[in-house]
Amino acid sequence: MATPLNQDADRIYVEEYKLVTPFRFDEAVAQVFDNMISRSVPGYATTLELINSTAALYAQPGTCCYDLGCSLGAATVAMANALPEHCRIVAVDNSAAMVERCTANIGEYQRQYDQPRTEIDVIEADLSHIDFQPASIIVMNYTLQFIPSEHRADLIAKLAAALVSGGCLLISEKVHFNDAATTERMRKLHENYKRQQGYSDLEIAQKRTALENVLVTDTESTHHERFKAVGLTSDLIARHLNFVTLLATKPSDSNEG
Ligand SMILES: C[S@@+](CC[C@H](N)C(=O)[O-])C[C@H]1O[C@@H](n2cnc3c(N)ncnc32)[C@H](O)[C@@H]1O
Repeated sequence: MATPLNQDADRIYVEEYKLVTPFRFDEAVAQVFDNMISRSVPGYATTLELINSTAALYAQPGTCCYDLGCSLGAATVAMANALPEHCRIVAVDNSAAMVERCTANIGEYQRQYDQPRTEIDVIEADLSHIDFQPASIIVMNYTLQFIPSEHRADLIAKLAAALVSGGCLLISEKVHFNDAATTERMRKLHENYKRQQGYSDLEIAQKRTALENVLVTDTESTHHERFKAVGLTSDLIARHLNFVTLLATKPSDSNEG
């Protein structure tokens, strides 16, 4: 399930900064993003496999399949590889640098087929401004954590309303835990994962500073409660340290009432 990405190594925080500025999905990050996310998020490759298998199970012909916060299009490609005919993927990101590269990657992906089976539209937009079409699968792979906390419940309600009967929302997120000791234990294990991937202590510390108040985690139970409040049934389907993947489904009409 290789994506057509060919990227530089992430060296963004190698040199010591006098002042570490808040993290942004800008040109410099887009340039190295594939390398950055796979070395920073334990289980990232597994989430792409889960997106592929979830799309195979849940995508319904005649509906939209959304990749929200698509970055370079890795989740879009994972979905596209599994879709039945007559689905349309809409990949959305509000970073111009990401959308430019994603558009190029998806163009390359589509060119391998004489007749691409799936229409894929890559759109530069903020998620809060999208009018969602009826959807059978909506993927947010590590995106909700960048949406301001006060807007998350409204966004999830909008997504749940867009889901067709039997559709699903697949969300991966970094989380914290109900007790501080577990959160701290997982933080240390995650930092060790990053060391194993070749990041130095300085890189790890500067990235952590940059992400403060930019990547804001919830607990797993907050996610489940948010889904339940809008009529979705959710399950934890994967966890790697402090990173979880949750599958939230909308009941089929036949199960309702
Ligand atoms: C961690 S990355 C997602 C990784 C990607 N889904 C993957 O699987 O490779 C988060 C993405 O969400 C985008 N993003 C953050 N806030 C957004 C918003 N309000 N509207 C649209 N995109 C947003 C960022 O620009 C970034 O590309």
